[in-house]
Amino acid sequence: MGKKITDKVTWVGKIDWELQHFHGDELSTDRGSSYNSYLIRDEKTALIDTVWLPYDTEFVARLKEEIDLKSIDYIVMNHNEVDHSGALPELMREIPDTPIYCTKKGEAIIRGHYHKDWNFVNVKTGDKLELGKHTLTFIEASMLHWPDTMFTYMDGENILFSNDGFGQHYASEALYSDTVPQDELFYEAQKYYTNILNPFSAMVSKKIAEILGMGLKIDIIAPSHGLIWRKNPLEIVEKYRAWADSYQENQIAIVYDTMWESTRIMAESIAVGIQKADPAVTVKLLNASKLDKNDILTEIFKSKALLLGSPTVNNGYTYAIGGLLEMIKGLKFKGKKAAAFGSYGWSGEAPKQMAEKLGDAGFEIVGDICRTLWVPDEDAIAACRAFGEAFAKAL
Ligand code: FEO
Repeated sequence: MGKKITDKVTWVGKIDWELQHFHGDELSTDRGSSYNSYLIRDEKTALIDTVWLPYDTEFVARLKEEIDLKSIDYIVMNHNEVDHSGALPELMREIPDTPIYCTKKGEAIIRGHYHKDWNFVNVKTGDKLELGKHTLTFIEASMLHWPDTMFTYMDGENILFSNDGFGQHYASEALYSDTVPQDELFYEAQKYYTNILNPFSAMVSKKIAEILGMGLKIDIIAPSHGLIWRKNPLEIVEKYRAWADSYQENQIAIVYDTMWESTRIMAESIAVGIQKADPAVTVKLLNASKLDKNDILTEIFKSKALLLGSPTVNNGYTYAIGGLLEMIKGLKFKGKKAAAFGSYGWSGEAPKQMAEKLGDAGFEIVGDICRTLWVPDEDAIAACRAFGEAFAKAL
């Protein structure tokens, strides 16, 4: 069952090929995921993290094939959201006295979830756990992405167990990041960063500086989701450093919804204007009703500016745009510019409302809104092109 990573470390997690949605429906996971748990066998034995609740009995049964559970001396819980702590109750039924090493907030979360009085050992940054030839060092990483999060570093084999940090929702039997198409992998890593870690970017930058400042030699980064970074593991750290710093590419996202095609025609006309003003810029046209919301958010993350379009319906914007605006606000994008547009038949409030929402979400609003009454005619199309051209020039 287990997969050997090094002489001392074995992967004992669960690959979830079926996972399509995570956090309810907050995050799409088209390529599945994994819940990575690691068994370290030195003079003492430690288990790092468990797996998601639906796989608890399977996890424990397979762990028994790997090791006599009674020989596990320590359990380390880097983070206690249910996808990592879900199998703890099933495991602790077998070994109820085994100490659980976690942060103080980790203990509170485990107690809050499972209501058990297990043998908790609270740790903080710099605390160590001697295993024999190797020592684990704990590094608190609060709000990356929960208050309880910590990383665990294993010396000698130089492995950073980073839990959600540096993870991706990507199922693969091969386990290693260098075994899969790199464009897919880094897309999933970026989608994961955008949708889970972006709100905490300031803390990401600080934590990376702190870890690099500790002078730890890192040969492997072993996250709790997806693939393990063993070739050039610092590549993903550098990506995170860039993503955490108001990341943007030379791209403009035009995200729109449309009822009878008028706002789509506006979006496409605006794109023509942008490309006239700046042929080098990448323009992405994204229909909010048809495309995956988390993929759209990832494209917004990559963009220097967002143009948001919606027809006016019932004195507001559409359902798809409303959902996206809520998510955009929560993800706290930094350093991006925006404007809004849309077609209307009589009242036409949507563009103004969207611009206000985007301003509230931290976008710098550039210029005025663009509206078209009924179906765009030649003049309206020309106006949309001019709007796009002016927007691109103003960036
Ligand atoms: Fe993968 Fe925050 O749990």
